[in-house]
Amino acid sequence: MGSYKDVYENWKRDPEGFWAEAAKEIDWFKPATRILEEKNGLSRWYVGAETNSCWNALDRHVKAGNGDRTALVYDSAMLGRVKKFTYADLLDKVATFAGVLKSHGVEKGDRVLIYMPMVPQAAVAMLACARLGAIHSVVFGGFAAKELAARIDDARPKLIVSASCGLEPGRVVSYKPLVDKAIEMSAHKVNTTIVFQREMEEASLVEGRDFDWKDEMDKASASGNKPACVSVAATDPLYVLYTSGTTGKPKGVVRDNGGHMVALKWSMKNVYDIDPGDVFWAASDVGWVVGHSYIVYAPLFQGCTTILFEGKPVGTPDAGTFWRVIAEHGVKALFTAPTAFRAIRKEDPKAELLGNYDLSKFEVLYLAGERADPDTIQWAEKALSGRPVIDHWWQTESGWPMVANPMGIERLPVKYGSPSVPMPGYDIHVVDEAGKQVGPNTTGAIVVKLPLPPGCLPTLWENEAGFRESYLAEFPGYYKTADAGYLDEDGYLYVMSRTDDIINVAGHRLSTGGMEEVLAEHPDVAECAVIGIADAMKGQVPVGFLVLNAGVDRAVSEIEAEAVQMIRDRIGPVAAFKKAMVVKRLPKTRSGKVLRGTMRKIADGAEWATPATIDDPAILDEIASTLADAGLVKG
Ligand code: COA
Ligand code: AMP
Repeated sequence: MGSYKDVYENWKRDPEGFWAEAAKEIDWFKPATRILEEKNGLSRWYVGAETNSCWNALDRHVKAGNGDRTALVYDSAMLGRVKKFTYADLLDKVATFAGVLKSHGVEKGDRVLIYMPMVPQAAVAMLACARLGAIHSVVFGGFAAKELAARIDDARPKLIVSASCGLEPGRVVSYKPLVDKAIEMSAHKVNTTIVFQREMEEASLVEGRDFDWKDEMDKASASGNKPACVSVAATDPLYVLYTSGTTGKPKGVVRDNGGHMVALKWSMKNVYDIDPGDVFWAASDVGWVVGHSYIVYAPLFQGCTTILFEGKPVGTPDAGTFWRVIAEHGVKALFTAPTAFRAIRKEDPKAELLGNYDLSKFEVLYLAGERADPDTIQWAEKALSGRPVIDHWWQTESGWPMVANPMGIERLPVKYGSPSVPMPGYDIHVVDEAGKQVGPNTTGAIVVKLPLPPGCLPTLWENEAGFRESYLAEFPGYYKTADAGYLDEDGYLYVMSRTDDIINVAGHRLSTGGMEEVLAEHPDVAECAVIGIADAMKGQVPVGFLVLNAGVDRAVSEIEAEAVQMIRDRIGPVAAFKKAMVVKRLPKTRSGKVLRGTMRKIADGAEWATPATIDDPAILDEIASTLADAGLVKG
């Protein structure tokens, strides 16, 4: 394979040649006429090529004689149930569901919104869309109806696929009422839903609008309605995945078919060292990019067995669940967020439960989604008897790792606190506010020199201006990651924080601006601020500060409880917003900017200085004592 340095230099010397070579791993119905086309900062890969992502995930493996290989293992720790699907089984299910979608008028280019828990039907629905050239938009189940409605209005889906319920420890989460409410709230009207009924809770179906998954599958099966893969342009969208932006309006990250396939397939061997037939487990959710890329698409493109796990690292039933899944299914590599390991460590500090399982097939643990603190990495290394624990860094927009330790090329020395080095395709720089490159070990904004490689977002859904404004405008010629950090003298990157108002809660990306928009709607609230404060398990959690309108004389605790409930109802339980506090006033600069950064430093027990531009320094002391009274100051 050569050394990392050789591979990276090889890419830098001839990026188009590099990605033309990588593209040979994919089945194309028509070859590309141009590998890369760049126009005004936008780049399109494999122009002129035609292909199909479902073909490359399923049909090609069956055609190659690997139909009996296990494609997907559904392991529900919630139900104590395991179900395995071979490539041939999965292909049959996907083709049948494509028939169902087609019978409801779904065609190439139509959007289909998928709002489902971690059941195999979610992956079937995604792949069925890909088969038809329809564009799926999966929404994470922990989002509330209002968030769902915002995505419906932006994506304008022809149809919604959902389930009656999801399972969270100790409770059944009704999904269908949220879908009904979202349809009611949205301006774009959805006329058809297909609902997978789970035995724990049956949803009531609206006659003529809602259809039962099983009935529809039976019908399509009986009539042999199993459409073949539709040929789509490599540059056609495969999916739109919404992610938090700096306002309450989520950004529709577009992923194309061709570049996505090439990049993901390349990453499976070169980044994760996974070969066809290996068992790969990304313990995330299909509602996040990790789930899209590494539960569904990449392992199937590579001909692996993927695990779709319904459960939590702890409490389902205990902190040994991850070890149980690894042992039972012969997992070679696990990918999860550091928070999952912090949760396991809290419950089982000596990793004693691990002793109950045979982990002989397990080789590597990959971590991403949030900063991996050295302490957690070292604990995991010890628990896993010295197996490599590999941090890597990427985001919804990139769709695959930007910075990693490329285990399939060369295992580089691990430097704790760094996800290691840039992957081919990513020319990473750290710049100051003026866009000037800074020297090693100097913190600045992390940017990627254009063009972005295959797999990265070509644009935002029907919002090219928003794409340019969010990512390209601030540093001309570069893509802004909105992360800050530094490169050391060996070219290792250290990702330290966001440069915007996004916080990272248990590996979930959330906008504090979006939460402020919700709180501002409370009739008693005059102004508010939400900050993310350090949390030992989730990395960060949001805390809200509320200033009440003059004359409000209701009990403060009542208003605080209402604020918490509002975030749960409007954004969803995933926000983990449990604490709102009424304060007399917010600390501001003389120009009226709320000093969120300083408030966060106070809460985190970090060093803070009174900014020279502050309006009234006494307010910071008030905030400090409010946080201290609430027991929220660290250290
Ligand atoms: N549908 C409905 N509700 C959901 C949900 C879903 N799909 N997923 C989460 N929720 C709810 C939870 O029930 C919880 O609600 P609560 O406030 O009533 O307890 C809330 O959203 C927060 O969920 P979660 O982030 O899972 O926190 P938790 O406290 O239940 O569990 C961890 C903590 C660390 C175990 C959990 O965050 C975890 O497993 N993290 C792994 C990291 C991960 O998967 N990251 C994804 C990116 S790689
Ligand atoms: P998401 O788009 O939800 O995947 O979130 C991406 C963001 O999570 C990044 O922009 C970072 O802020 C953070 N992140 C992801 N992986 C890492 C990592 N390995 N180290 C530090 N931060 C990370």
